[in-house]
Amino acid sequence: MKIDPTITHIFPKENEIPETYLLNTPIEQKEYLCNGNMLVWNGPVQPVYSPVCIETSSGLKKRYIGSYPLLTEHESIEALHAACNAYDYGRGKWPTLSVEERIRYLEEFMFRMKESRNQIVTLLMWEICKSLADSEKEFDRTMDYMRGTIDALKDLDRISSRFIIEQGVIGQIRRAPLGVVLCMGPYNYPLNETFTTLIPALIMGNTVIFKPPKLGVLLHKPLLDAFRQSFPPGVVNTVYGEGQKVIKPILSSGKVDVLAFIGSSRVATILKQQHPKPYRLRCVLGLEAKNPGIILQDADLDLAIKECILGTLSFNGQRCTALKILFVHKDIITTFLGKFCNAIKELRYGMPWEGGVQLTPLAEPEKTQYLTELIEDAKRHGAEVVNDNGGAVNQTFIYPAVIYPVTDKMRLYWEEQFGPVIPVCPFETIHEPLRFIFESHYGQQVSILGNNPELIADLIDPLVNQVCRVNINSQCQRGPDVFPFTGRKDSAEGTLSVSDALRVFSIRTLVAAKDTDVNKRIISTIIRERTSKFLSTDFIF
Ligand code: G3H
Repeated sequence: MKIDPTITHIFPKENEIPETYLLNTPIEQKEYLCNGNMLVWNGPVQPVYSPVCIETSSGLKKRYIGSYPLLTEHESIEALHAACNAYDYGRGKWPTLSVEERIRYLEEFMFRMKESRNQIVTLLMWEICKSLADSEKEFDRTMDYMRGTIDALKDLDRISSRFIIEQGVIGQIRRAPLGVVLCMGPYNYPLNETFTTLIPALIMGNTVIFKPPKLGVLLHKPLLDAFRQSFPPGVVNTVYGEGQKVIKPILSSGKVDVLAFIGSSRVATILKQQHPKPYRLRCVLGLEAKNPGIILQDADLDLAIKECILGTLSFNGQRCTALKILFVHKDIITTFLGKFCNAIKELRYGMPWEGGVQLTPLAEPEKTQYLTELIEDAKRHGAEVVNDNGGAVNQTFIYPAVIYPVTDKMRLYWEEQFGPVIPVCPFETIHEPLRFIFESHYGQQVSILGNNPELIADLIDPLVNQVCRVNINSQCQRGPDVFPFTGRKDSAEGTLSVSDALRVFSIRTLVAAKDTDVNKRIISTIIRERTSKFLSTDFIF
């Protein structure tokens, strides 16, 4: 195959990196946050190399961007104790604050976080190679998520600020925190997806230990001080290092009440099993997916191509919601493939800070080898790479590969590739993509691209019972964040959205009393004198 020479020169020389994003001094992180103190670590550290390579006189070298602490069991147990003490069996300052007061703490944190936007955006580009536009979007979307969370909590609290009298019993029902939450986000949205669990967990009154993902650690550093200054001691604690060393002891203690994990089902299974009390542990899990795009015979091809490009290749396909397999009706397959491959040619590839760039190097160190193996496996079973430069590798960069025709004999049919390799299966009857969905281990979303309302309606009804979002004429995606985000089978446990997340990190608890004069007097006095935060009719405006 003839490879475009620009792929071999995709990486810059040091002096070609724009001044604004240069990251002149590596970030040598020594600090970690425990019990309201910024502690300094003097032990071993994990060096961090960017997926961006630099052209040097001795060849291409991954750029060194810093290091972070490799903590041990000792520090992780300290973090656990700090979180347990701050919760103090529900008696701590944080879990007993009123909702209004907790909102004020979060607003203070948001004010401080805003200051770090540029630094975080730059680190997103260096650590995981997310494009400038997408890195900015990730930061801004996270700020919006926090604002949305505050509004949703106000709504929730307003509903709970009244009493119910039923069958001679007076009751007030509110949502109370669950306890200590362990939050672990994924590398593809290291800021946003960590915060979509961390923030609702916090605002509901839980105390938190959070471990940043393996890739995308340094970008959290600017926020450590904001956490320390904004929240009471022990409410937010951080741990860094190998899961076996720092996470296993925390979970094995049996003291964690909620595990919020976004990553692979393989790791989630290991983590769950480390906790000795399966009924104490609530889990909120966002896991893999193999979302199919079904392109029907009468689809508007230009629209289908646009959505399939976005669906398969946004952030190089490193999204859990990405379209990871395309089923295209056999009558339109030739036209579809021609247009699809041409559209890929138009995508700009390069470094994350380059204007309009859509394809960038991959974050995970061995990823290009893994994707090459998938391509080779498909070829061995009769498929071909049908686009120019498809699968061409230069260090951490791999050019998108369209693989056709893919069958169930190939690994690409089953495995979540999480990268820019696009399996395409031709189909004659709708039973073929349906069979894929029924047999898949995953059940997050599906996209249907077509124009016939009758046919689409026939597909919607069985599909809503197999996945958790059916997208019509658009790619799969998580947002808007007010929509429920979840999945069936190995794709998720629990539902996240701005308002659902408040529910998963809390539990309905009530105070109830028989409707007698004595009890009415007790309740009225408590309310009038405002001596309880829970039993209260205060209304947040
Ligand atoms: O990686 C999974 C993300 O939740 C996907 O979010 O659809 O907004 O890219 P997105």
